[in-house]
Formats: sequence, C-alpha cells, structure tokens
Amino acid sequence: MTIPVLPLDRYERIVFFTGAGLSAECGLPTYRGAGGIWSEYNYEDFACQRAFDRDPEKVWDFHDERRRIMGEAEPGLAHRVIARLQQERAGTAIVTQNIDGLHQQAGATEVIELHGSVWRVRCRCPDGLQENHDQPIERQCPACSAYRRPDIVWFEDPMQEGPLRAAATAIAECDLLVSIGTSGVVYPAAALPQLARQTGAMCVEINPEETEVSGQYQVNLRMGASEALSSLWPEVAEMSR
Ligand code: OAD
Repeated sequence: MTIPVLPLDRYERIVFFTGAGLSAECGLPTYRGAGGIWSEYNYEDFACQRAFDRDPEKVWDFHDERRRIMGEAEPGLAHRVIARLQQERAGTAIVTQNIDGLHQQAGATEVIELHGSVWRVRCRCPDGLQENHDQPIERQCPACSAYRRPDIVWFEDPMQEGPLRAAATAIAECDLLVSIGTSGVVYPAAALPQLARQTGAMCVEINPEETEVSGQYQVNLRMGASEALSSLWPEVAEMSR
C-alpha cells in the first residue's frame, strides 16, 4: 500500500476523528461486526433511556461491567501518537465518539467527546454532573436518592450541543482530517467529517475495512490505527513508544 506523504509542517489545524477501532487495539470490543457489543446486547435493553427507566439496575450492571473492562485498558500507541501531536502542536483537535477516556489517559489535553464518557455520571442535583471512577459505582445519589445515569449519549438521546458545536467548528476549520476506527454509521457524528471535505481539507480514513463513508476521503489507509500512524509519522511514533 502506498503511504501518502503528509508533512506535519504543511498543516496548521489537524483534527483526529476517532471511533471504537482505535481502542480495539487496547483490547476493547468495537460495537459492530464480529464480537461487537451490539451483536451480543440489544441496545433497547441496555443503552437507552427507556431501558434505564424500566430497569436501572440491569442497565447499571451492563455499564459497571463496561467501566470495569475500560478501566483495565491502557492507551495504545495510536492514542499516544495523537496525544503527543496535540501536546506539541497548537491547533490539533481530537473529536471522539469513544466513551472510554483513553485519549485523556494517553495525555491528550483537550478531547471533544461527542458521545459522553463512562467516567462521568449525572443525577437530579443542581451540581449533579460529576466525574466518577468508582467501581462498582454507588448507583443512587446519596443527596437526591435518584439513580445516577452515565453521562453517555445513548440511543434515542439528543446529542449534547456543546461538543457537537465544538466538533463542527474544529472540523470545518481544519486543513487535515484523520478519521480512525469508525464505521461511520452513527449520525449525526458520521456526518461531521464531510464538513472538512467541503472546506477543502485533506481527508484521510484509517480503517482496515471499507466503510459506508470511505468514498468521502481522498486517502484510505486499510490498516490498523497504530500501524497507519507509525507509517505516516514514524518520528512521532518512535517518540511515543
Ligand atoms: P463501530 O464498532 O461501529 O466501528 C468500529 C470500526 O473500527 C470498524 O469500521 C472497524 O473496521 C474499525 N477497526 C477495527 N479495528 C481497527 C484498528 N485496529 N484500527 C482502525 N480501525 C479499526 O464503532 P464506532 O464507529 O465508534 O455509541 O461506533 C459509533 C458509535 O456507535 C459509538 O460511539 C457507540 C456506538 O453505539 C456510544 O457509545 C454512545
């Protein structure tokens, strides 16, 4: 496969747009495809407000287990390369659909989380949104006694406006967009990379498999995240090992 030459000094604003495939390299399952979470679990029973209202304990059992698995995962080389680039280059944005916090764990300074985070919960209290890494979590808030819910964008939830707006701005202003490890089927997140294409940015997709949105990218690197980033920017990868 021909690896394009993308000299970092040619680009002032890089956006990394990431999905579950990035964390698959750290042992976390993706959502779709063989072994994907949604081939094992029906979202209507585990990942929507209706399921939570019906049976919050069942939904928390599922999320406690996910928090346990994500809590044991370590960021991979690709996470570290992205974090290093953000630390070294002002104007580098990370827009993720992932809820596992691995970008931050790798040292990323700012991450736009489109789908929330398993490490935040919220309840009815006025200051009810809080970071929480307890395992297992105290499921009912001691102050308001309501069930806390994960601060995640579940199926059927509206997107959180702040991250969506921040992501759209960063992507519309970038000159290089690197999409990594997403199937591109969950909207509105999947529509965001088009903004970069419309404004003339170079758009690169990193995914071992073809996706429904592959045609939107000038370059498709059919390889895993760490291998692809190491091929594009070997010096940065070397320093991130
Ligand atoms: P998916 O599970 O839909 O897609 C993961 C993609 O990663 C697939 O296209 C794989 O081919 C690719 N992949 C696998 N291994 C890879 C590797 N080593 N390097 C690069 N790519 C690899 O995950 P998302 O697109 O992230 O919502 O899913 C979008 C949303 O759907 C998620 O945010 C989640 C889910 O419902 C929430 O968690 C709220």
